[in-house]
Amino acid sequence: MADLLLGQVLRFDGDPMVAGEGAARHDSHGAVLVDQGRIVAVGPAERLRSAHPQAQVTDYGRALISAGFVDAHVHYPQTAMIASWGKRLIDWLNTYTFPEEMRFADPAYAAEIANRYLDLTLSYGTTTVCSYATIHPASVDAIFEAAQARGQRIYAGKTCMDRNAPEGLLDTAQSAYDDSKRLLEKWHGVDRLSYVITPRFSPTSTPEQLAAMGTLWREYPDCLMQTHLSEQPDECDWVRSLFPQSRDYLDTYEAQGLLREGALYGHAIYLTDRERARLIEAGASLVHCPTSNTFIGSGLFDMGLATRLRVGLATDTGGGSSFSMLRTMAAAYEIAQLRGQALHPSQLWWLATQGSARALHAEDRIGNIAPGMEADLVVIDLASTPAIEQATRRADTIWEALFPTIMMGDDRAIRAVWVGGKERNAP
Ligand code: GUN
Ligand code: ZN
Repeated sequence: MADLLLGQVLRFDGDPMVAGEGAARHDSHGAVLVDQGRIVAVGPAERLRSAHPQAQVTDYGRALISAGFVDAHVHYPQTAMIASWGKRLIDWLNTYTFPEEMRFADPAYAAEIANRYLDLTLSYGTTTVCSYATIHPASVDAIFEAAQARGQRIYAGKTCMDRNAPEGLLDTAQSAYDDSKRLLEKWHGVDRLSYVITPRFSPTSTPEQLAAMGTLWREYPDCLMQTHLSEQPDECDWVRSLFPQSRDYLDTYEAQGLLREGALYGHAIYLTDRERARLIEAGASLVHCPTSNTFIGSGLFDMGLATRLRVGLATDTGGGSSFSMLRTMAAAYEIAQLRGQALHPSQLWWLATQGSARALHAEDRIGNIAPGMEADLVVIDLASTPAIEQATRRADTIWEALFPTIMMGDDRAIRAVWVGGKERNAP
């Protein structure tokens, strides 16, 4: 039987980074009709109610129905070490990240964390993530099995590293190619799962390993490829010394066939003019990780790029300090403010839904409410705490009503989550 969800409905029919808030559509008494995992219709509540009298009605009152959040860059294996104190990127990787990732040699631990991670992120309204696993193939199986059990659309891949990491976390160019290919053939396109070719970043991959990833990507061109780019100045210096022949950091990927549409680069803060121009020309996606960039002290992403290429938004768990895309929108707002730009609530919401989906080349399936799209939805309580409720009391517009939740909301604001047309959390 079809489900009819009633509430305020927020969706987009354009890109507010380009067109401004006019690209958003808000219906204060709206409805979304869901059947067999998909959105069938969206419109005014009264019209949909009378057109579909048989549908099972769930009335969310004044709560806001939106597409579920899409988190375009995470490391699910870093769930347990989130919010570890101190250190900058390279120290932080060596002190906290690599020891934790070593534990994923145990498939039972990988399964425990994968399930914990997806439960946590669903409780924050995130229905799709694009995740790094660890070098262990079983860590990829773990996240895909956990996502499959929940019916989620998930992107993930085996992290490849063949240098500058502890012994227990190293593969080789050949084994990274073989393992990635086997996992890709096992999982890519199964249910709602997509394999992502995942060299961690140039400091931990030899040119031979990057070349092997480039070869694999040419063999499976419809996959995405994810890596890190220019997150901290020390890291950029290190890349310069490791790759003396390369023109710049991006060139270490470009030279090995790892730059084209479908490439996702996390962070991308310290870009040269050539890199910016090539990223735009190639149609690559950048992923802004604002809580991570403040937490690890990386720097201020240039959101001006969002009008020129695909930009997604991400928590970067556990470099990021939160699982919440609400908190991530708040951090994106604050970082843009420090660069002299005030992102409108419609732009923040779009980045966390359709913008991230677009970065993943999945904007026709997820991240928006429109007929034919997959029914991954989040229902937001716009008065989830006394502080938020009192701040919204005088709101005249949806944006005034929504912005306090963006800035101060957490998992208490998540009233319900629908994944593939099924409700996960009872209201
Ligand atoms: N660069 C390479 N690996 C990582 C990681 O795990 N987290 C972050 N934030 N940056 C990275
Ligand atoms: Zn990352």
